[in-house]
Amino acid sequence: MSEVLAAIRRRRSIRSYGDRPVEPSLLEQLLAASGAAGRLTRAPPRVALVSGVEQTRRILTYMVGSYGLVRNPPYLLVGVLPQESDAARLDLGYVLEQVVLEATRLGLATCWITGSYDARRAGDIVGLAPGEVAAAVCALGYPDEGRWSRLHNRTVRRLAGGHRRKPLTEIIFSERWGERWSPDQSDPVLVSVLKYARLAPSATNRQPWRFIVRSGHVALVLVRPAPIDGGIVMAHFALASAALRYAGRWEVQLGDGTLAQEYGLPKYASPVALWK
Ligand SMILES: Cc1cc2nc3c(=O)[nH]c(=O)nc-3n(C[C@H](O)[C@H](O)[C@H](O)COP(=O)(O)O)c2cc1C
Repeated sequence: MSEVLAAIRRRRSIRSYGDRPVEPSLLEQLLAASGAAGRLTRAPPRVALVSGVEQTRRILTYMVGSYGLVRNPPYLLVGVLPQESDAARLDLGYVLEQVVLEATRLGLATCWITGSYDARRAGDIVGLAPGEVAAAVCALGYPDEGRWSRLHNRTVRRLAGGHRRKPLTEIIFSERWGERWSPDQSDPVLVSVLKYARLAPSATNRQPWRFIVRSGHVALVLVRPAPIDGGIVMAHFALASAALRYAGRWEVQLGDGTLAQEYGLPKYASPVALWK
């Protein structure tokens, strides 16, 4: 199995970190991966590194209950948008998830964080140019393998429902919104790609993505305004497609009203991109 597919299968959000420092060569490799990552827009996000528990503690906030609790990450990757827009957030999800999977491949632990961090402080620490926005952070390091930490990881993951994924038939439609899709009548390579897409992380594990499989393309739709989650699932789809040789590339069509009509989307669902 390709290394990226193995990383997609292995990745989990890890919320307790040990103090073992990450080798500088691995950190360099990750920052290089963020520069070389595939992107969706002409003005891609940048990824900045914050080092040291003292700094990462200044950015993380701990007041939203156990879900938000990510303990002692020695590093944070800070995702910085060139300016605020849904397209920029989509691209941030796309680029930073490629870095997350590269980190997983290198044996490192990660956890996306958008709910429990201080965006202003993150921006102050990494330094923002005018217009730039710190839109998400991602914990990075080696996991704390102690018994209590492993228990903490398992408990928070269960509380967040992170171990569950919706069945494929709930998130995929055939031709139009609401029409039953069956894996038996689909290209088996596409079915595999969709299985890897479904393993994508999403905020509070809401899995807000839906796919409409049509002849000639696959459409991605979001059922809530969550462009970062959209970009993350697009990264999984694109990486799995490359590994499994399912031809195509993403064409971003955020909020396209004509497509919404063509697919018969309900009001709460919005088109994001087409794979063709
Ligand atoms: C955009 C985004 C934001 C997230 N924010 C948080 C957060 O603030 N705190 C947290 O503990 N987990 C956060 N998570 C992790 C999700 O809860 C986790 O991905 C989901 O429950 C699925 O579990 P898994 O990543 O272990 O597969 C976030 C994930 C994503 C993709």
